[in-house]
Amino acid sequence: MEIIRIPRIMQDTSKGHILRGRTIGFVPTMGVLHEGHLSLVRRAKQENDITTVSIFVNPAQFGPSEDFKQYPRDIEGDTAKLFREEADILFMPDALLIYPEGFSTYVEVEKISERLCGAFRPAHFKGVATVVTKLLNIVKPTKAYFGRKDFQQTIVIKQLVKDLDMDADIVVCPTLREQDGLAMSSRNAYLDIRQREAATVIYKCLIEAADLIKSGIIDANYIKGVMQDGLLKEPAVSGLDYAGVYDPVTLSELSEIKGDTLLAVAVKIGNTRLIDNMLVIPVRKYE
Ligand code: PAF
Repeated sequence: MEIIRIPRIMQDTSKGHILRGRTIGFVPTMGVLHEGHLSLVRRAKQENDITTVSIFVNPAQFGPSEDFKQYPRDIEGDTAKLFREEADILFMPDALLIYPEGFSTYVEVEKISERLCGAFRPAHFKGVATVVTKLLNIVKPTKAYFGRKDFQQTIVIKQLVKDLDMDADIVVCPTLREQDGLAMSSRNAYLDIRQREAATVIYKCLIEAADLIKSGIIDANYIKGVMQDGLLKEPAVSGLDYAGVYDPVTLSELSEIKGDTLLAVAVKIGNTRLIDNMLVIPVRKYE
């Protein structure tokens, strides 16, 4: 596995592969790789000639009071995992090479960035959209792979690729879960044993809401109430940013369930903010 730290060298390496007719699969990450990330790497390897993984903890997507400094890092462990997965290239740029002095161009995806997490983390998606645009320009992938756990991030990225006429195909892969249903996330590392146990309430509440929809309930406010009550009953939940029923395209809140529905949650357990979601697609009947 080749380790590249300089954006210009990464660009030239990718150009070389493209000139030789090779496809590039790209998995952008912030490191502390878990099975969820590794499933993206495996998919990229299956579908492309070259697999590039980036590890970059992007300062621009953290708010001033957020966990940028404490965000877990494990470069040695990550490198070993990617080596075992036989990734071809690990791109690990320094923050000063991504945001050099005088950097002043940012990418903003309107409307969908303002909802859900965007309402609580105002500059977050501007930071994500900017770094993903830069990474796609540097790595020049044929396909880029993202997990559905960050549902809003995936639709923000699809929108930016479409609006800016970028070349990469965005591939969204299923959320990987622990045995008890907790969505895999690097932030799970912050949870102590009691909090880790309590965090299963998130998946339970999503399943309960999905079951209500499947049983024919169409009152989205009722379902939102059930979700919020379930979450707030758990004493370890120290804050609820949102939990409810949304349109999976516009992310606006639904009052009635008519078709494909996104159930989404963002809660704090202790000081750790966790998000999760479930897409409920009603069975369509044909006559
Ligand atoms: O999902 C992540 O890990 C990050 O938001 C991403 C896409 C790597 C951009 O920093």
